[in-house]
Amino acid sequence: MQELSYEKARSRQSYKWKLYDPDVMPSHVADMDFDPPEAVLDVIRGFLDRGDLGYNFFRIPDVFQAFSDWQDRHHGWRPDTDRMRSFTSVLHAVEMSLMACTDPGDGVVLFTPSYHPFFDSITGGGRRCVEVQLEREGWRINAERLEAAIDSTTRAILFCQPHNPTGRIFDEDELAIVADVAQRHDLVVISDEIWGDFIHEGAHRPLTLSDDRFAGRLVTMSSASKSFNVAGLHCCVAHFDHAPTLDYLDGLPPRARGMSTPMSFAAALAAWTECQDWLDGVAAEITDRRNHLAARLASEAPQVRWDLPEATYLAWLDFSDTSIADDPAGHALERGRLGMDPGLVFGAQYGTFARMNLATTQEFLDDAIDRLLRTLG
Ligand SMILES: Cc1ncc(COP(=O)(O)O)c(C=O)c1O
Repeated sequence: MQELSYEKARSRQSYKWKLYDPDVMPSHVADMDFDPPEAVLDVIRGFLDRGDLGYNFFRIPDVFQAFSDWQDRHHGWRPDTDRMRSFTSVLHAVEMSLMACTDPGDGVVLFTPSYHPFFDSITGGGRRCVEVQLEREGWRINAERLEAAIDSTTRAILFCQPHNPTGRIFDEDELAIVADVAQRHDLVVISDEIWGDFIHEGAHRPLTLSDDRFAGRLVTMSSASKSFNVAGLHCCVAHFDHAPTLDYLDGLPPRARGMSTPMSFAAALAAWTECQDWLDGVAAEITDRRNHLAARLASEAPQVRWDLPEATYLAWLDFSDTSIADDPAGHALERGRLGMDPGLVFGAQYGTFARMNLATTQEFLDDAIDRLLRTLG
């Protein structure tokens, strides 16, 4: 796997490397500082070398089959290709599914802290975001809080497993709480499982396998984008276990779901069929980075609290006991020249937090940690 040099990283035009001034070490946004797999790059080069940029819809069934095979191999789930549809991104699939299964004014449950675009995905369509805070200790789902948040206008739960930003893999007991509530209140569950391939401990639990009570009410989406560092290619596969949502989407004009490019489909196909070794290598590196951050924080900044993520390449850091608690990401940017995602965007209660990105080289991570320590003084 190819690690980035500073020079190559800074030549990138991506949001990660162009948002901040060149003297800032970026550790925001979930892109990786590794080159995508060579097999994926070769596929893209092939299109360019052939000047092959015309219409091409041939690969979509192959992508669905590859997604089904991948899920089966990795997570023991064999999704039905007939119930899959493609979208231009996971967020696109989330938003179209919400439009399909809820009406304006309906409530959609969101566990917080939450991946920040989900707030707009819900409210941008005129739905109400029903926030349910995870327990601060261990970031667990609390049954009473969930029950208390639901009323007769609640129609759906927008779920993220494994969870961004905490890195939790919700366990069987927690999923049973969600399944029970979903069944009793007849809620659709939209399950974003884009992080399912980055597991440090344990295993990814697709919601569909975890509890029978999810049957018939689930929409599950994932993508090669996060796992293989090709988010800019924009391609997602969603599986519709909830028939009315699928019927609604199929009833829309044929192009309303959008269309990924032929290169994006071909890249997803290559990723899911040829790039297992690459992913294994990257996942092991990321676990190393997680452990390295844990070791350095424990010895050099024990006042920064965090729960070791079980999954994802995100570090959700709590600065409550530090001198920068009022605005950790702001101070880190100003004093340390380190770019992190501010906790506030993940929920109004999380202003003392910031999110770092662990999918990086040892050198970049140490640079980021040094900057954080400088900020903390
Ligand atoms: C939970 C989650 N869902 C969706 C996305 C974005 O996926 P896409 O670019 O396919 O919309 C991300 C990106 O970080 C994410 O963390």
